[in-house]
Amino acid sequence: MMNTERLTNQDIQRAGVLLKAGEVVAFPTETVYGLGADATHEEAVQKVFVAKGRPADNPLIMTVADAEQLTNFVSVSEAAKALIDAFWPGSLTIILPIKPGQVSMMVTGGLDTAAFRLPDNETTRAIIREAGVPIVGPSANTSGKPSPTTAQHVWHDMQGKIAAIVDDGPTQVGVESTVVDMAADVPTILRPGAVTQQQLEDVLGIHVLDATSTMSVADDVTPKAPGMKYRHYAPDKQVVMFDRLDALALKVSLAPTDVVMAQEETLQRMALPLAQTWSLGTTLENATEQLFAGLRYYDDVAHVKTIYVEKMPPIGLGKAFNNRLGKASGNQEYQG
Ligand code: TXA
Ligand code: MG
Repeated sequence: MMNTERLTNQDIQRAGVLLKAGEVVAFPTETVYGLGADATHEEAVQKVFVAKGRPADNPLIMTVADAEQLTNFVSVSEAAKALIDAFWPGSLTIILPIKPGQVSMMVTGGLDTAAFRLPDNETTRAIIREAGVPIVGPSANTSGKPSPTTAQHVWHDMQGKIAAIVDDGPTQVGVESTVVDMAADVPTILRPGAVTQQQLEDVLGIHVLDATSTMSVADDVTPKAPGMKYRHYAPDKQVVMFDRLDALALKVSLAPTDVVMAQEETLQRMALPLAQTWSLGTTLENATEQLFAGLRYYDDVAHVKTIYVEKMPPIGLGKAFNNRLGKASGNQEYQG
């Protein structure tokens, strides 16, 4: 077991020293916490796979402090540049073709493309500047579990396994960045997030495909984002999604070991004991920010057997919410 250091957003220098020494440091972003390591240092990257228990064929995001850092690894097309100008720093990860030999196979999983992201968080950027290299940044959870939105979540999964955790408070968005493949013939969303299809189309001026609305996660197909084929974002407890129109039918069939995560309006209609509920607030932003925190909380409450979670309207950020909920529940739906 490693002695995991607890750092704050004042300890940028210490985080940089550890990263430069090839150690793994968990860092905040505006979406979820990430597991950082020097992307140009093979053994350091290897440690990230070990800490997460992540399959080696699932490529990692390279997190950069500014768009300049990209030029060593890729040539940036006009369209990619437009996205960078519009959305960076922010919750958009861009897949680009790499210059041969410039990115470690360990990072790309052997693909001829790589994923890049510039987070909207000053602490993240300061850490990367201090390290002086791009850092890989998969979500800082054990592979398959919900992504961490607080430093405590990271501690739960990673203490003893990594060198340090930088605590910068709860994240703002709550789900991982949108992943858009700009190496494909047509720009394609591989993972929905806070940057929506409509926003991408407005900037690019062309149609953007959303692979996640049709993609099968069956084992016999190879999805474009290798990460999408694994069971994901899932607590150990059973998760079932429900439609708000079925809220009252659900209330009648609830067992004392069941809990409900829903928006305020729905919770008020259901009038359940407080101990049995987790509020997803009043907006899509609230709901998305709270989803993983609620799932992680109930996963550790011994008597809870099933977590029912309200689906969101499938527009904008609602697509990202429903995508993560679908994976957490294995697409199990309450039939009212
Ligand atoms: O918000 C986020 O993006 C967070 C924070 C920490 O920055 N990071 C994150 O990383 O979610 P990760 O590694 O958990 O997810 C990266 C996703 C995976 O589904 C992976 O398969 C996909 O991006 N990916 C990475 N490189 C790729 C590539 N070259 N082609 C296709 N998909 C790729
Ligand atoms: Mg992840």
